Amino acid sequence: MTDEFQVQAPLIRPRRLRRTPALRRMVAETHVLPSQLVLPVFVREGISEPQPIATMPGVVQHSRDSLRAAVTEAAELGLGGVMLFGIPEHKDATGSGGIDPGGVLNLAITDVVAEVGDQLTVMSDLCLDEFTDHGHCGVLTPDGEVDNDLTLAAYAEMALAQAAAGVDMVGPSGMMDGQVAVVRQALDAASHTSVSILAYSAKYASAFFGPFREAVDSSLTGDRKTYQQDPANGLEGVREVLLDVEEGADIVMVKPALAYLDVIRRVRDAVDIPVAAYNISGEYAMVEAAAANGWIDREAAIVETLTSIRRAGADVILTYWASEAARLFRR
Ligand code: PBG
Repeated sequence: MTDEFQVQAPLIRPRRLRRTPALRRMVAETHVLPSQLVLPVFVREGISEPQPIATMPGVVQHSRDSLRAAVTEAAELGLGGVMLFGIPEHKDATGSGGIDPGGVLNLAITDVVAEVGDQLTVMSDLCLDEFTDHGHCGVLTPDGEVDNDLTLAAYAEMALAQAAAGVDMVGPSGMMDGQVAVVRQALDAASHTSVSILAYSAKYASAFFGPFREAVDSSLTGDRKTYQQDPANGLEGVREVLLDVEEGADIVMVKPALAYLDVIRRVRDAVDIPVAAYNISGEYAMVEAAAANGWIDREAAIVETLTSIRRAGADVILTYWASEAARLFRR
């Protein structure tokens, strides 16, 4: 110490509350409960054994049988729900496999509802991209643009097929204008008034979706920038959310999560219904890849990731770690 400078002992010492694990636990502001977690699952038509997804180590494309086992485990762990994605054997220009009552996703909904419908919220992705041969989330015009309003008609039919299969909650994720209103109207007109809507409201055209494209064998070339949002825009995310609330969304979602924690917070402060966030494939893959290389403590990174998304304001988190995290947070 120099002569002219004397260190003053601090009067206030925040470190006191960080001294022991018990103290830290007692004053923790944020908790992650299994019931707040939703497990996204992929089911693929025509396979008898689960297939690994190379870009998402630890995640698989399920057969109908292995899907039943996965959702049973999810129910035993007390998760909030499961979000189902289907991968059809044949794709076509209009994504007809998504609407067909015998399509893989609709059959999987019925399977899962029969297995765990009394214990979990069964949700389904309501989008055409897994079912179209061009990989876009909608139907195309002759010059290759995604036709908003023709796509809405397809979403309405798809919502009815999913509701008929027994789903609790549909997740329109295609970012077409007016999609929540159309789905709500279609459901109500068919007396499915109790089927709820998890709206993918603020969904960004993100590089972090990369690994998902392998997960669903996507044939997309190009990008989704004419319908998914520009990552530069936060206010626009809030506007998209407010529109979906007006259109009848029961839960609104921000997606991806980590590069958009500020959007999650703005949305949480702007609406009075539950807010979900999707911790997506690329966010999962980054942690798994770094951990596989020994560059990061995997479990600590999972706990910190999910805690940060809750702290930002998400009430519900969709995450591929849902089942594992239910165990991690129980400790
Ligand atoms: C669209 C949909 C996508 C994801 C969920 N629903 C893909 C996309 O918009 O490109 C991505 C999920 C993830 O990356 O984990 N059906």
